[in-house]
Amino acid sequence: MEQVYLNGEYKPLNEACVPVLDRGFLFGDGVYEVIPVYSGKPFRVEQHLDRLQHSLDAIRLRNPMTREQWIEVIDELIRRNTGDADAALYLQITRGVMEKRDHGFNDSLEPTVLLTCQPMNYPLQQSDTPGGCAITLEDSRWQDCHIKSINLLPNVLLRQQAVDAGADEAILIRDGRAIEGSASNLFIVKDEVIKTPPRQRCMLGGITRDLILELCNENHLLAREIDISEDELHDADEIWMTSSTREILPITTLNQHKVGKGLTGPVWAEVIRLYQDYKQQVMRGGDE
Ligand code: PDD
Repeated sequence: MEQVYLNGEYKPLNEACVPVLDRGFLFGDGVYEVIPVYSGKPFRVEQHLDRLQHSLDAIRLRNPMTREQWIEVIDELIRRNTGDADAALYLQITRGVMEKRDHGFNDSLEPTVLLTCQPMNYPLQQSDTPGGCAITLEDSRWQDCHIKSINLLPNVLLRQQAVDAGADEAILIRDGRAIEGSASNLFIVKDEVIKTPPRQRCMLGGITRDLILELCNENHLLAREIDISEDELHDADEIWMTSSTREILPITTLNQHKVGKGLTGPVWAEVIRLYQDYKQQVMRGGDE
């Protein structure tokens, strides 16, 4: 039976319960992280814990654990569940359980901490990967999407619109600019230049995105953090969506039209190779 970590205890999933007056349940008042685990090792865990701290600060919630405690719990939960296999680690903190429903909060509540670790098959991406489909939709989310909030209703509805249209992801447009996906960041390639929107308040700063930028930089591939207009998106040679669970998904169809030649592109092939090499290096215990 899968084990979870809930408020200081490891317990079987079916015995883990949260009171109904938890602010996460009633208001979506909390933050989360999804950390990929490759061959039993949490990937870029420091960066994920940094972003967790950023989200906590933004919603004025104190971090209930030290960095060392987080690492210890993450390692122990992996050991108890998936061992040396690949997995996805989910970490959530809510503002805790109220005595009486009230929008306002005070600092007296004890945050609710939940971690799960489930087996995961990461995509086996090769140059003959067929690639995914995306559609564009107006971004209906709030302004503060840099916070990795558990309040995901707009993301859920946008993703479902994509699913209903037979697509893998929705690319969100705000004021004529392509920002990111419903649960992923956006890259395009035009004339061999890689572009991704700059970090901004209305976008989540993805850990996968940052790693791709680092790898491009180290390997002298031209990558720019720059706004992408809706027109540029439609005119791109390549489009990729990136996240901890999808890694680098090449999008070959946008709004039922081919992206470039309608096949995965050469720049994607180069970058996915760099990404896989980097993963291998980390799994062999190399430096992150
Ligand atoms: N989501 N943008 C949004 C809105 C996201 O939800 C995610 C990830 C990303 C990519 O971030 P990262 O590279 O750090 O995974 C960008 C996770 C995977 C999820 O909600 O399941």
